[in-house]
Amino acid sequence: MTAQPTNLTGLDLRAEIDRLRKERNAVILAHYYQSPEIQDLADYIGDSLELSKKAAATDADVIVFCGVKFMAETAKILAPEKIVVLPDMNAGCSLEDACPPEKFKAFREAHPDHIALTYINCSTEVKALSDVIVTSSSAETILAQIPADQKIIFGPDRHLGGYLNRKFGREMLLWPGVCIVHEAFSETELLKLKAQHPGAPVAAHPECPPTIVDHADYVGSTSGILNYAKTMPGDTLIVATEPHIIHQMEKALPHKTFIGAPGADGNCNCNICPYMALNTLEKLYLTLRDLAPRIEIEESLRLQAKRSLDKMIEMAAGTVGQGDLGAR
Ligand code: 13P
Ligand code: SF4
Repeated sequence: MTAQPTNLTGLDLRAEIDRLRKERNAVILAHYYQSPEIQDLADYIGDSLELSKKAAATDADVIVFCGVKFMAETAKILAPEKIVVLPDMNAGCSLEDACPPEKFKAFREAHPDHIALTYINCSTEVKALSDVIVTSSSAETILAQIPADQKIIFGPDRHLGGYLNRKFGREMLLWPGVCIVHEAFSETELLKLKAQHPGAPVAAHPECPPTIVDHADYVGSTSGILNYAKTMPGDTLIVATEPHIIHQMEKALPHKTFIGAPGADGNCNCNICPYMALNTLEKLYLTLRDLAPRIEIEESLRLQAKRSLDKMIEMAAGTVGQGDLGAR
């Protein structure tokens, strides 16, 4: 079943979304990269780890996931009894696209003495082939619990993996995927911007290439960057991640100034995630009205993928002892 297009002229979409969310006992979860109008309607906004935990804990009957497909699939893996809908099923991710399950499986088989530590930005099939999932906010805590002599494959984001290798002195084998959004920041333009705002710190997401991360005063997940904005020195921050997060910064810190780091064209438009942008208020209304399109996952695949996600949740809370991980 797919949401049926309709003439929505004259409808008060916000009021209708509110009415339907109550009628359906639905919770609206939104990632920080969603448009401000969607963020303002959401029940919860968060990073990938926070939204996964929220999905697992909710008592709503319906989860409307305003984010991308791998996030909605994660919600369904953790909360299979819920109806999980995504406003636009084409909301994918370049990292997921860069890591086809059959190629990942062959790579794993070629390295039987390695465990697979895998970024949550991947398909359910790749999660099922992995040992532990990480998000950008949990990766450091989790990696710190893995013995130094354990060989690791890290995919699909080579920049996040490279950042972790440098920071922890590890030699994880890196899958060659990138986020097209963070890849598009320009070092030259960033240096020009820094010169225009002397002393303003730079906060960068670890999906950025080293040419950007090396200029950052803070490197972390979306929620980490938001927290840094609250505690940073000074009142101007250069933000090297998807610019829609600035909406939450401006709401929480109206006296501070936030400047999106530029792409090669000198403005930050090329850093808007084209997948996240597929979700609109109209599609959010239709998805609540029609409870479609729905995420469905075959049960044995779901259970396989759930193992590596459960491991993430345990290890992110620091409840797994060293040596608890072995090669598959
Ligand atoms: P976090 O919100 O977990 O930092 O992830 C960023 C991202 O790119 C999600 O696609
Ligand atoms: Fe994927 Fe990058 Fe968009 Fe996040 S910002 S969903 S990593 S393409």
